[in-house]
Amino acid sequence: MGQALGLLLLLAGSCTAPAPKPYRVGFSQCTTGDAWRQAMLAGMKKELSFYPQVHFQMKDAHDNSALQQRHIQEFLNEGVDLLIVSANQAEPITPIVEEAFNRGIPVVILDRRTTSKLYTAYVGGNNLEVGQTAGNYASSLLHQQGNVLEVLGAAGASPAVDRHRGFVQGLATYPGMHLVAQVQGDWKRPSVIRALPAVLRAHPEVNLIFAHNDRMALGAYQVCKQLGLDRRIRIIGVDGLAGPQGGIQLVQDKVLTATLLYPPGGEEAIRTAMKILQKQPYEKENILSTMVIDSTNVLTMKMQTEKLASQQQDIQRQQRVLQAQLATYTSQQIVLYILAAALLGALVLGVVLWRAFQVNRRITRKLAGQNEEIRTQRNQIQALAEQARVETEAKLRFFTNFSHELRTPLTLIMGPVEELLTNGADLSAAQRHDLGLVRRNTQRLLQLVNQLLDFRKIDVGKMPVRATEGNVVAFVRDIMDVFEKPARQRGISLRFLPAEPSIRLWFDVNILDKVIFNLLSNALKFTPERGQITVSIQPLPAEGQVRISVEDTGRGISEQDRAHIFEWFYQGQQGVAKGSGMGLALSMGLVRLHQGELTFTSTPGQGSTFTVTLPQELPASMRSTEAPVPALALAEEELGLSVAEDSPIARRPGKDSKALVLVIEDNLEVNAFLAQKLRPHFQVQTATDGATGLRLAADTIPDLIVCDVMLPEITGLEVVAQLKGDWRTSHIPVVLLTARSAPEQQVEGVQAGADLYLTKPFNPTFLLENLRTLLSNRDRQREHFRRELSVDTATVAPQRVDQKFLSDLTAIVEANLGNAKLSVEDVARSLGTSRVQLYRKTKALLGTGVTDFIQDIRLTKARQQLLNPELNIADVAYQLGFASPSYFSASFKAKYRISPSEFRALHTTPSV
Ligand code: FRU
Repeated sequence: MGQALGLLLLLAGSCTAPAPKPYRVGFSQCTTGDAWRQAMLAGMKKELSFYPQVHFQMKDAHDNSALQQRHIQEFLNEGVDLLIVSANQAEPITPIVEEAFNRGIPVVILDRRTTSKLYTAYVGGNNLEVGQTAGNYASSLLHQQGNVLEVLGAAGASPAVDRHRGFVQGLATYPGMHLVAQVQGDWKRPSVIRALPAVLRAHPEVNLIFAHNDRMALGAYQVCKQLGLDRRIRIIGVDGLAGPQGGIQLVQDKVLTATLLYPPGGEEAIRTAMKILQKQPYEKENILSTMVIDSTNVLTMKMQTEKLASQQQDIQRQQRVLQAQLATYTSQQIVLYILAAALLGALVLGVVLWRAFQVNRRITRKLAGQNEEIRTQRNQIQALAEQARVETEAKLRFFTNFSHELRTPLTLIMGPVEELLTNGADLSAAQRHDLGLVRRNTQRLLQLVNQLLDFRKIDVGKMPVRATEGNVVAFVRDIMDVFEKPARQRGISLRFLPAEPSIRLWFDVNILDKVIFNLLSNALKFTPERGQITVSIQPLPAEGQVRISVEDTGRGISEQDRAHIFEWFYQGQQGVAKGSGMGLALSMGLVRLHQGELTFTSTPGQGSTFTVTLPQELPASMRSTEAPVPALALAEEELGLSVAEDSPIARRPGKDSKALVLVIEDNLEVNAFLAQKLRPHFQVQTATDGATGLRLAADTIPDLIVCDVMLPEITGLEVVAQLKGDWRTSHIPVVLLTARSAPEQQVEGVQAGADLYLTKPFNPTFLLENLRTLLSNRDRQREHFRRELSVDTATVAPQRVDQKFLSDLTAIVEANLGNAKLSVEDVARSLGTSRVQLYRKTKALLGTGVTDFIQDIRLTKARQQLLNPELNIADVAYQLGFASPSYFSASFKAKYRISPSEFRALHTTPSV
């Protein structure tokens, strides 16, 4: 990480090195039309390649001073940082160069000077020295005796002026040397070829020509050659350039006797310019040395220049390579920059992520701590809640069990009282009044106990809604009837105002009964004498609801009580508490259970109106297809109003007196009470514990069993399960009778196999009615089995214990059809039971004895076999185990009222 960062910083360092300062350099060139000037430019470019930051621009004046002035002016206008000038002519160019210099722009004079000293630096040969060297060399060549012709450079150009002056000075030291003629050239060959022939003709004494450059010297040679003077006249030039037409080659080719080296100085000019621009020390006068190149050193010079040229080429090649590498480097550098940037980005991101991770970890740790704390607190709360729940549950269980306990003694009080009031014809009026008082108060107690148990059921969510569709108007009217008498007694007018004579509604009879009953009880309780209670029923089709309201002219509900009247056990602030504080809370719970609403309005001193709003429809889960339990009858019982003497419930002839009922009840008083109640109608057997009950049941195979749930050791539920699991007793209807009325317990009972579940306190008449119903159902079932067997024994599906028994029994009989000696004993043994038990079971299930059953099967089979013409009647009789054909015929005729031969004649087509 540290190393990477270091590398990155290094890269960043290299990346941020200051870029070289860019410069603009303008070069005003007098001409570019010759090799010397091109060599100068090549030298400049070679040197400039080391300074890529320099923007270099050259303007070619084409030997035109006016044009050159304009060029320089343009450079000034463009704002160049440095000016290089090679003046076409000294004088015309001087003012503009001075202006540039005065403006502070550095000026480098290259080769051709101005007339002024106002310039920054000079680079070039010393033309005075060039002239002098030429004079001296010419003198030594001609052994100080000769006539010389001078070909001058362009007029006004400083090299031409200085070379001439130097040449004259050089010759002056040799008296034998004479400058006899001059040709005014313009640095170019054609001007010499034009002018020289005439001058040579005029001066035949000339034996040496000094031309100011090699090009003009070549022209002179060509003229001499043309005039046949080339062998006599020696020619000296200036420049000494390498290359095919260069001075060195001309010397080697003996065209020229010598040339004076005059370097173009391009590299030096740029080097000097860069020193000036970069504020480095520089020389103002940078004189390039000259030398004579003649036959003595031309080879060396050539080799040197060629070597230089090849080195130059090498350098250029290397430079190209370098350029390519530089380009590669640049592109790689770009890639590197990108990589570095990416790395830097990644690093920054890494640092950010790392920090985020750290922060996150801190937060997570903190949150984990808080979570732990919350968990601990939650656990504590849960533990407290659980403890509270357990405690509340224990209290409620006690409360509920206690209520259950109350039911049994209440039942035992109610039973005899009921009995006395119904049958005690010899009671005096006072006794009847007292007994009525006992019954009313017992009912009042029972009502309270029931309300407590309902409260518990709602509380644990175990009160189901079993709605049926009915006319709610008739239903409410029936309940109101109950209040008619007490209302009349107190001079209260009880009005019923249904909006329509019949209003259909899905409702649970038991639930709505309790609600309306409660509201009416309350109204009656709080309405003073000669007051008024109005019950109205209103269908609300738009809302899909029905509204039932109970309005009274009582004292109303005080402000303080309003918020609390639906609370459980709320007794109210107003002086006398008239109720248990459960009625309204229970009603509210029941209405809500029924998906409805219970509301009220009240004006103290004037009265209250309680309104129940119920949905017309209820979800399928709340609908029941079974007929409702007659709640009204129970409600009347609870109210203490006796069932009418002539009601169908009260009186029922004891036609089942032969049926045997087994009562299993551990409470001796309840046991005796039950036996007493049932005895007028049935034969009664009793047991006080489950084991005895089971034993008696198996022994006597009773027609019906009434069993308590809460039995010691073997519970009632276990008794039912065992009875239903044993084929001997499985057909016996069992009624579970208990104080436990929670729906889930009832379900438990039914699941165990009970045929009916009745809760204490039971109305003896209601119990009797139910026992009769069960017995008649059993008869119907018996008929069903018999019919099934008589048609085709194979259709008996062994689905239940009873069906299995019948199926086994039939199989044994069918396997022994031909056995005339098959006895009941044999069949009982095959089924693993006793003869008596088999008889009772068969009798209970089919209504016939075992022998009759065997006979029935034989005779049914006989009908099938008689249709077979191959068999005669005696064959059929013997095959089916009849002792003789006559016994068979008598039995067949007794059952089917037709003899076997008549049966056969009727059912078979006589053969022709
Ligand atoms: C090139 C040239 C050279 C000469 C120089 C003098 O243009 O004519 O031959 O030496 O200029 O400025």
